[in-house]
Amino acid sequence: MNIAVVTPGGDAPGVNAAIRAVVRSAASQGFEVFGVERGYMGLIENAFRKLSPRDVSGIINLGGSVLKSSRCELFKTPEGLEKAAENLKAMNVDWLVAIGGDGSLKGAKEVSEVSGIPVAVMAASIDNDIAGVDETIGFDTAVNTAVEAIDKIRDTAVTFERVFIVEVMGRQRGFLAIDVALASGAEIALIPEHPVTHEDVSQRLLKMGSLGKKSSIIVKAEGAMGDPFETASRLSRLTGYDFRVTVLGHIQRGGVPSARSRTLACLFGNHAVRLISEGKKNRLVGLRDNRVVDISILDSYTSVKKIDENKYRLVSLLAV
Ligand code: F6P
Repeated sequence: MNIAVVTPGGDAPGVNAAIRAVVRSAASQGFEVFGVERGYMGLIENAFRKLSPRDVSGIINLGGSVLKSSRCELFKTPEGLEKAAENLKAMNVDWLVAIGGDGSLKGAKEVSEVSGIPVAVMAASIDNDIAGVDETIGFDTAVNTAVEAIDKIRDTAVTFERVFIVEVMGRQRGFLAIDVALASGAEIALIPEHPVTHEDVSQRLLKMGSLGKKSSIIVKAEGAMGDPFETASRLSRLTGYDFRVTVLGHIQRGGVPSARSRTLACLFGNHAVRLISEGKKNRLVGLRDNRVVDISILDSYTSVKKIDENKYRLVSLLAV
């Protein structure tokens, strides 16, 4: 059995631990593994390299992906998919394992449809926005990275009695922003799922000011309320408060994976190889109700994950 493993799209801390888990679990079954370089681009460019258990030594603690990644527009075209399918078949690949988020899921589904080669997808994304699973590889590390940064920002916010807008990743969804806001004790979470006006936010800040709060932290998801610097100047005009902005950006994607992210990676990788041994095709592996599960890729792809409204409400409730 030949397995190709690919890490497309945004990287997430723990992806290397996931590659290692796939390679070593596959070795225990006598399967061969090929690593695909630069995400789906490598399928088109025929960039495969054999991975033995020794090739994945010393990577469990590394951020990024040793296989590299890319955003590959060509893969979204029929020509790109055809080429990828052709290369997979030429390499005698029996099964494709993709480690990534919603873009990886979509790509895996499409290349499987074109090539007829079954896929297993391991949920890995700092956005944690994959429908059907509660937690992805890398989410825990990204939350901790952002919380650690906000703890530092709060020191200066309190000292100068300022309001800080801290922008975290999440173009479409606010899962990261909600967990970061709750765990950092932020006063306000701004997420794409709950649009608010500048007037709403300024009223909330003024109310907190009247309750004696002299500084506040607003955790804003990338996709909520537009440009953070413009938002800050409008809110400053409306409230009279002194604002500063920190955009955390890609530091949330990198760094040493937390123990939790690594553990999920080990469990998901082993589960993906078990699916291959059992011939269970086109499944997404993730954590649900604290158990490692596999669900139909199609079901995940056609659903939208809901945010935890209780967690979202709790941010404001605990900010009085
Ligand atoms: O999908 C993960 C993600 O980190 C998003 O949260 C973010 O909006 C995006 O990737 C950034 O992508 P890029 O690194 O291509 O700019």
